[in-house]
Amino acid sequence: MRISILGCGYVGAVTGACFAELGHDVFFVDVDPAKVEAIGSGVSPIFEPGLNELLAKNHTRISATTDTHQAIQETEITFVCVGTPSNSDGSIDLTYIRSACRDIGNVLKQKDEKHIIIIKSTVLSGTTERIVRQILEEVSEKKAHVDFGLASNPEFLREGSALSDFFSPDRIVIGVADDYAHRALDKLYSSFDCPKLCTAIPVAEMIKYVSNAFLATKISFANEVGNICKKMEIDTAEVFAGVGMDHRINPAFFQSGIGFGGSCFPKDVHALIAKAEELGVNPRILKEVSRVNDEQPLRLLDLLEKHVPDLENKKIGLLGLAFKPNTDDVRDSRAAPLVEELLRRGATVLAYDPMAMGNFKRLYPQIEYASSADSVLEADAILIATEWKDFENLNYKNKVVIDGRRIEKAQEGSTYEGVCW
Ligand SMILES: NC(=O)c1ccc[n+]([C@@H]2O[C@H](COP(=O)([O-])OP(=O)(O)OC[C@H]3O[C@@H](n4cnc5c(N)ncnc54)[C@H](O)[C@@H]3O)[C@@H](O)[C@H]2O)c1
Repeated sequence: MRISILGCGYVGAVTGACFAELGHDVFFVDVDPAKVEAIGSGVSPIFEPGLNELLAKNHTRISATTDTHQAIQETEITFVCVGTPSNSDGSIDLTYIRSACRDIGNVLKQKDEKHIIIIKSTVLSGTTERIVRQILEEVSEKKAHVDFGLASNPEFLREGSALSDFFSPDRIVIGVADDYAHRALDKLYSSFDCPKLCTAIPVAEMIKYVSNAFLATKISFANEVGNICKKMEIDTAEVFAGVGMDHRINPAFFQSGIGFGGSCFPKDVHALIAKAEELGVNPRILKEVSRVNDEQPLRLLDLLEKHVPDLENKKIGLLGLAFKPNTDDVRDSRAAPLVEELLRRGATVLAYDPMAMGNFKRLYPQIEYASSADSVLEADAILIATEWKDFENLNYKNKVVIDGRRIEKAQEGSTYEGVCW
């Protein structure tokens, strides 16, 4: 098929490259010329293991442009993969969705062939059938599900393992309301050997939010239990190894630590809370999930102050800035509240991350960045905020290490404290 991808960030770049690998012709579109230029020259605009290789390998099937008009005219199906960040009150910000839909609508108005629009961005239940549909219909002067196809296909990939998540998903969810889009998505995913769940569009949208909200809940639960276990001098990891053996529970997402970050869990939990409140429902569990997550990184600093009571003018080393290993994404990284609080308490910060220093520097230019993980160890004490494999190879002997991610090697010969262990 001929596919256009609107938005070449983490989801768009991966989705497009993977569809190209499956033999489809892919037209990438972004409003950011730097991303378009990168993809056009076979280079990934983001760090994701294997993505550069996939883009280079399939370059004959790939085009990239800032011209939405050209991309939609030359393709049959468009995946909308633009960002859906949070407003300051936690509700979902649909600015990019609205603008992308206006762009698409303008092209649909002039396009003779029937086109299909698939919303892959994470949007609250009802967004596609109300807001997206309304904009597309108004601008194009055509009718959704009649003159053009419209469907939802939420994305479940995890940064850091996004390619294998694309090719071997647990399930594919498609929300449809017209046969045209339904048939196209069936064809597109026909080679995938996994459960395919076909629902109404609002249900598909809700499945995405509830999945993320539940995973976030699991993490905050593991952290709360970890805080209790630490006080009781019980190993929380052993506890969860036993708990996870119950097939009703499952062991994933039970690593106690300093909480979840990234571009999805925090904002999706906030958006669901805001939506629930708008509907007059008090989402008590979700509010606590978010509160536990906000407090958890700060526990690392309370532990640090046990060993370094006065942080004024102390140099604190920070290992890990990405919100998790194998990505350069720093959105809602747990390192951010650590840096803010360290600076507020008068410390200076020497930070290192194998991939995310460039992105973090744009947010926090005022801290010092180390050229290697080793040089961070010269600081007065070290905090570990991301579980990069590289951090398992350092010599932490005689250092004060406060660990938010359970790096086993950091316990050898050091003055060591783990956040939940
Ligand atoms: N990052 C993830 O791990 C992940 C996983 C699942 C779902 N999602 C969801 O997918 C969506 C995209 O997430 P992301 O992390 O890829 O975001 P991102 O911010 O990395 O990328 C979005 C891209 O869209 C571009 N854009 C904005 N408006 C545009 C327009 N009108 N036309 C073309 N391009 C435009 C931006 O320049 C940017 O490059 C969000 O809704 C997110 O919640 C993300």
